[in-house]
Amino acid sequence: MFIKIPDLLSGKQLDAVRSVLQQGSFVDGKLSAGKHARDQKQNEELDSNQDSYSALNDVIMTQLVQHPLYLQAALPAKIAAPIYARYRAGMGYGEHIDDALMGPAHARYRSDISITIFFSNPEEYRGGELRISDNGEVSEIKLPAGHAILYPSSSLHSVKAVDEGERLVAVTWVQSHIRRADQRELLMQLDQSRQLLSGEAAVSARQKIDQCYANLFRMWAEL
Ligand code: NI
Repeated sequence: MFIKIPDLLSGKQLDAVRSVLQQGSFVDGKLSAGKHARDQKQNEELDSNQDSYSALNDVIMTQLVQHPLYLQAALPAKIAAPIYARYRAGMGYGEHIDDALMGPAHARYRSDISITIFFSNPEEYRGGELRISDNGEVSEIKLPAGHAILYPSSSLHSVKAVDEGERLVAVTWVQSHIRRADQRELLMQLDQSRQLLSGEAAVSARQKIDQCYANLFRMWAEL
């Protein structure tokens, strides 16, 4: 299941993010790739050893981790430090699967959900679609600047080569309390259903759904 989060960043936040990225220094993206993905990866990443990296995190990650749809869909236990990636003309990322376990030795996490946050508008670059194959279905995604997409880390995906212009994104990964995508989807549907219920007649229905939600979550959750 793909979850799109529209307008994660305001126009003002987006302007600030883009100006920080314009001034930041970038390194070869191969440095952060898993050993199988390295051959596929051609992009540049903001050097995380600079003040601008934490300034960006303060804006973007703060917005993300408070967003109701993110919380509802991801049921997050841990989130990775993001990568700010730049794709210029000729750059792309061939088909690959993200590593199952990521992070430094003392802070490992399992990747359940992959997230891309877009900072460039679709008309600013040609090519560069995020291509995701999930259960035999292929989607090509290119969202407006400030929007984000969540997709299962178990899916094969790629970034088509940019033909012209520049594609700026952030990518990060979540370990969810619920490892399975189908179980997360059921919980999200239940959560959305109970939010739709209102009025006196709905009180006992809502109680039942609250009970189902809490007990399914308890049945499946890992810390
Ligand atoms: Ni990937």
